[in-house]
Amino acid sequence: MCGIVGIISNEPAAAQAIEALKRLEYRGYDSSGVASLSSDGRIERLRAEGKLKNLAAKLNANPLFGHIAIGHTRWATHGRPTEDNAHPHATERVAVVHNGIIENFRELRAEFEKDGVKFSSETDTEAVLHLVDRALQKSGDPTKAIAEVLPRLKGAFALGFVFSGHDNLLIGARQGAPLAVGHGEGEMYLGSDALALAPFTDTVTYLEEGDWVVLSREGVTIHDRTNTIVKRAKQKSGAGAFLVDKGNHRHFMAKEIAEQPEVVGRTLAHYIDMNAGRVHLPVTLPFDWNKLTRITITACGTASYAGHVAKYWFEQIARLPVEVDVASEFRYREAPLLDSGLAIFISQSGETADTLAGLRYAKAQGQFILSVVNVPTSSIARESDVVIPTLAGPEIGVASTKAFTCQLTALACLALAAGRARGTLSEADEQALVSDLVAVPALMVEALKSEAHIEHVAHDMAKAKDVLYLGRGTSYPLALEGALKLKEISYIHAEAYAAGELKHGPIALIDEDLPVIVIAPHDPLYEKTVSNMQEVAARGGRIILISDREGLHEAGLKTLAGIELPKMNPRFAPIVYSVPVQLLAYHAAVALGKDVDQPRNLAKSVTVE
Ligand code: G6P
Repeated sequence: MCGIVGIISNEPAAAQAIEALKRLEYRGYDSSGVASLSSDGRIERLRAEGKLKNLAAKLNANPLFGHIAIGHTRWATHGRPTEDNAHPHATERVAVVHNGIIENFRELRAEFEKDGVKFSSETDTEAVLHLVDRALQKSGDPTKAIAEVLPRLKGAFALGFVFSGHDNLLIGARQGAPLAVGHGEGEMYLGSDALALAPFTDTVTYLEEGDWVVLSREGVTIHDRTNTIVKRAKQKSGAGAFLVDKGNHRHFMAKEIAEQPEVVGRTLAHYIDMNAGRVHLPVTLPFDWNKLTRITITACGTASYAGHVAKYWFEQIARLPVEVDVASEFRYREAPLLDSGLAIFISQSGETADTLAGLRYAKAQGQFILSVVNVPTSSIARESDVVIPTLAGPEIGVASTKAFTCQLTALACLALAAGRARGTLSEADEQALVSDLVAVPALMVEALKSEAHIEHVAHDMAKAKDVLYLGRGTSYPLALEGALKLKEISYIHAEAYAAGELKHGPIALIDEDLPVIVIAPHDPLYEKTVSNMQEVAARGGRIILISDREGLHEAGLKTLAGIELPKMNPRFAPIVYSVPVQLLAYHAAVALGKDVDQPRNLAKSVTVE
């Protein structure tokens, strides 16, 4: 899982490729590389272990001047994150960058090794390189070589190639991993997404499954998997409209936490008719809420916790049973799905491989496909019957924050729409809930004001080796999200439990070294959660309670560190309570000196299984 770019330009293209790769680092940052052509047409390459800045430093010291380049940022799948395994891989005839997995690489590699070909990396990509190189030795024709090689590759991938002696030819191919073509003025581009190409153009063509494309300064020819020349529409990506910088913040994550009131407000404005005080979905739904008997929600990581929260909302507000599963399980467990059911897929990137595979499974089972995505041009969006966009803007920090709260916001609106349509929610109740929902951005502003205190609590928590999170009702999935956030960026081990499950095992962990974060707004479940908290206190546990004034007051525990949030309708508390949960993880990670925006071993968008 990686990011790839290709550029045919009128200026040194390797430097431009690095500019594009900066926007693809969310796909991985184990190593990076560029390949260009020298003035006499030879392939020149620079590769570096680790973050893109290492490659940028190498390029500064050794500029490449060629006007054509391919570039890569890597999340290691096959082979360690070393320079030898970094892309582009190259022979003297061709260089390739690759995102995805070539599943039959072992068999291909064995075929070459039998013929005495030496591999210089441990990657699956190198098998593609040698296939193309061998085809080029036969015909000398790059287009013919690619057409011959592509049918031999199994798996999900996007590829980009440059060829020695061809400074006006770039070839790309897409099968199971996204690839966009960017159209410039006498310049052409390839990229894993439109955001990567935003510094150069916002006119893009999204390739379809099985497409491969031949680019030159004069234009583009797209072939489908049968090698027939096809037309694919040009679109405005809109990606250029987004500024991708940290503003005054130290990290993207800090900026993204801080901008939540704004983006949640923007998402609300999209789904709520503010004058009528009612939900108004700006799309026509291709199903009837009244005919549904069940919803199946599928997602990965943080997005799956948004799905868990939404389960409570759909069940309580619309009386619709919901099943939630992580996509990596859902896609293989052969779930029987009722005819014409609704399957909801939640994804920030819209490219997560398991979620996309789950979507395709549900589609084959005759489900209506609704996706809640942050990237409306993504594969998941494009394969859905209806798209509910979250308007969070590009999220750069690997740990999801604003995308999560925008997912919750959109799902809350959807649950209200379902409740109205099914008659389980009266108009007056809808208006009351809408007015509570509209108050959320201001409540988030209030929550952000506690940052200094939360930072202080986080510094203390950062000394721990393990942390336990507890919550009931919708605070339970938020506890899961809190533990995930802390693990991801601070590398402190954290677990989350439904508070009522404490006595069934995790209580054995409690001692004076274990911080226990209890998420408990003063809601109808509060008393129950407080009982569980007493059980922790009785065993010397260090409790950090996140609640409102009433909740903190009634808890009546001396040992307690409290984080106070404003009073609100507890129904939507998960959106606001996300703020302290995110800030705790953020400040713990900063205190420990961790790389908050690009934590080790992770990637923002996981386009492999
Ligand atoms: C990765 C990211 C997580 C994210 C998950 C799902 O693991 O690090 O932050 O929640 O993928 O991504 P998606 O783009 O589908 O929401």
